[in-house]
Amino acid sequence: MNTSTRPTVLILGAAGRFGGAATQAFAQAGWRVLAQARKPLTALPPGAEALQLPLDDGPALARAATGASVVVHALNPVYTRWGQDLLPLAEASMDLAQHLGARFMLPGNVYNFGTDMPRLLTEATPHSATTRKGRWRSALEARLAARASQGLRSEVIRAGDFFGSGEGSWLDLAIAKDMAKGKLVYPGPLDRAHAWAYLPDLAQAFVAVASQPSVPGVRTLHFAGHTLTGAELLAAVERVARPLGLLPAGPVKHGGIPWGLMRALGWAVPIWRELAEMAYLWELPHALSGDALQAVVGPLPATPLDEALRRSLRAMAGAPHQEAAVAA
Ligand SMILES: NC(=O)c1ccc[n+]([C@@H]2O[C@H](COP(=O)([O-])OP(=O)(O)OC[C@H]3O[C@@H](n4cnc5c(N)ncnc54)[C@H](OP(=O)(O)O)[C@@H]3O)[C@@H](O)[C@H]2O)c1
Repeated sequence: MNTSTRPTVLILGAAGRFGGAATQAFAQAGWRVLAQARKPLTALPPGAEALQLPLDDGPALARAATGASVVVHALNPVYTRWGQDLLPLAEASMDLAQHLGARFMLPGNVYNFGTDMPRLLTEATPHSATTRKGRWRSALEARLAARASQGLRSEVIRAGDFFGSGEGSWLDLAIAKDMAKGKLVYPGPLDRAHAWAYLPDLAQAFVAVASQPSVPGVRTLHFAGHTLTGAELLAAVERVARPLGLLPAGPVKHGGIPWGLMRALGWAVPIWRELAEMAYLWELPHALSGDALQAVVGPLPATPLDEALRRSLRAMAGAPHQEAAVAA
């Protein structure tokens, strides 16, 4: 793409899991990427420029991002602070997008649907959040609809649990955390389908949607990703990790997550309370239908599961574990 004609995307939260993947994908597709983070960013791809500015300096961000036609909201407050920070951070991003006349793009999650959600989640599935975090997410998406009357154009691309970019996913913090000791953990019964999003693929979906003309108002599209039961996921981890020498030979020990204990002690350990609130997602089989997204952008790159896991497990093995919250 000619440098004078290439479109510009502002990625808010470029140091995060999705923000990092989006930075890579947009830059690879030839976009000029303005990668906002509050800390220094290292190893940006060619075509990406760091904007080390805080979110609350709106005027400076707006000046630095002049010309951006897309704002990707890849910010995610610390899991224990969603009540305080989720909506204000999103409002700041929406203000910026409106000021720039840019289209606003949000990675949505499945929290909006609550404990009565059907097995197959389509764009027509009603939102019926049953948790505080689900209600905050629904409120966030309602704000996009409210701002549509002021001209904001938004896209929500809803996805399952992230894996495959950076640290802090269920895969590295729990499931495969102790694979070197021959142990794999699964947070729920092994026979329930669960929706996963391999981040480089999800980021490509954002690029594909952003590369098409925007539509008025809010458009929501679901990203199918990989739908796997616990048994399927653990079998795939075993299949991929053994030849890489990341899982020792011999029988694998299986562990779970002590949800009951975490619930009981949630009053003392806030992150346990927050995580336990969402434990139902491991009990309820669910999948996202990607049909509408495919109808809009055509077939998307879909990294086969084993390859996606191979890259993710390799990256994990090279990076030290961090005790952080698994936050969707
Ligand atoms: N994680 C999932 O499985 C999942 C699934 C579906 C949808 N989503 C959604 O996708 C979006 C991105 O999630 P993610 O997991 O990629 O996020 P993440 O890695 O947890 O964090 C994104 C970034 O937000 C920044 N941030 C947090 N609080 C901030 C604040 N007060 N001011 C400025 N920056 C702040 C952080 O900056 P620092 O690096 O400086 O701390 C971080 O780099 C969220 O809306 C999330 O709900 C996530």
